[in-house]
Amino acid sequence: MSFTIIGTGAGLPKTIQTNQDLAQFLDTSNDWIVTRTGIEARHICVTESILDIALEASVNALENAKIKAQELDLIICPTLGGDTVTPSLACLIQDQLGATCPSFDLNAACSGFVYGLDVADAYFSRNNDMKILVIAVDAMSKLIDWQDRATAVLFGDGAGAAVLAGGNSLKAIQLTAVGNQHALSIPWPKGNHPLTKNRSKPEPYLLMDGPEVYRFAVAAICNDLRAVTKAAGIELADVDYIIPHQANLRIIEGAAKRLKIPLDKFVMRVNGCGNTSAASIPLVLDELNRNGQFKSGTRIALTAFGGGLTTGACVIEWA
Ligand SMILES: CC(C)(COP(=O)(O)OP(=O)(O)OC[C@H]1O[C@@H](n2cnc3c(N)ncnc32)[C@H](O)[C@@H]1OP(=O)(O)O)[C@@H](O)C(=O)NCCC(=O)NCCS
Repeated sequence: MSFTIIGTGAGLPKTIQTNQDLAQFLDTSNDWIVTRTGIEARHICVTESILDIALEASVNALENAKIKAQELDLIICPTLGGDTVTPSLACLIQDQLGATCPSFDLNAACSGFVYGLDVADAYFSRNNDMKILVIAVDAMSKLIDWQDRATAVLFGDGAGAAVLAGGNSLKAIQLTAVGNQHALSIPWPKGNHPLTKNRSKPEPYLLMDGPEVYRFAVAAICNDLRAVTKAAGIELADVDYIIPHQANLRIIEGAAKRLKIPLDKFVMRVNGCGNTSAASIPLVLDELNRNGQFKSGTRIALTAFGGGLTTGACVIEWA
């Protein structure tokens, strides 16, 4: 026994920034961004806090699951960080929802939602009679240098949530990690202890070797999808929807070509949100769920990659 997804939710900040908006203050163009990434616009937290969008997604997911926050046994919040280092974002969500369960953040960057599902699965193996909220949220707009055109155009803010209950939907799941600071990193603010004040202090913004991450991502999607479908005892062709981490259209095109599967098996929503890190997969999951695209028996593969470097993939059969 593992889990089944009984509700999903999404939270996006109101402010939308188009590529044309970015070209007002960055040396870039709509044409460059669309051709290299498929991204046309992204949502940015201007008036909202990170907690606000996390709460919106959580409340939506609880309503969709038709359960009350007080029924939750655990809140897992995959995120690079909330509005405060402590309390954790998960604890603030718990407080605002009026839940009373243990709550913690989990940092696996853009693979966070799948990492969260794997942790939840372990809890269900201990006690199948639980309800777990996995609320993945990131505000990348607060972590990138808005003067760096190579990274600023790629990301956006958002939150996506799933409520899990005991069940048999999870057919296979796999996580990987290969520690690599060069490919992608966000330095931590260093504090101001007088003995350390002369050491170099990098700005706390995202640093990335784009081409290296690109090559890693295409290989990760191919390897992970092959591994989880094999573990689930199915062929890739048997999967109805592949929901990849929404980072870049070209990465998905590259993976589809290498796997020799039609591109339309991959659900792509990178155009409207950019890369929302841990939130990108559950945002798409929620859209398809609310559109009624999942029936009992629908097979969904999730495949994520990101900072760490981490990857995670799984096969879920909708109940
Ligand atoms: C970032 C990425 C889009 C760059 O695409 P690319 O084809 O590799 O482009 P390059 O980095 O080689 O840059 C090509 C040129 O475009 C320029 N360029 C970079 N960003 C630009 C921008 N926003 N607008 C215009 N030009 C830009 C570069 O300066 C470079 O110019 P040069 O040839 O004169 O030196 C691509 O590497 C990528 O998608 N990597 C994966 C990133 C990712 O998904 N990260 C998150 C993982 S969770």
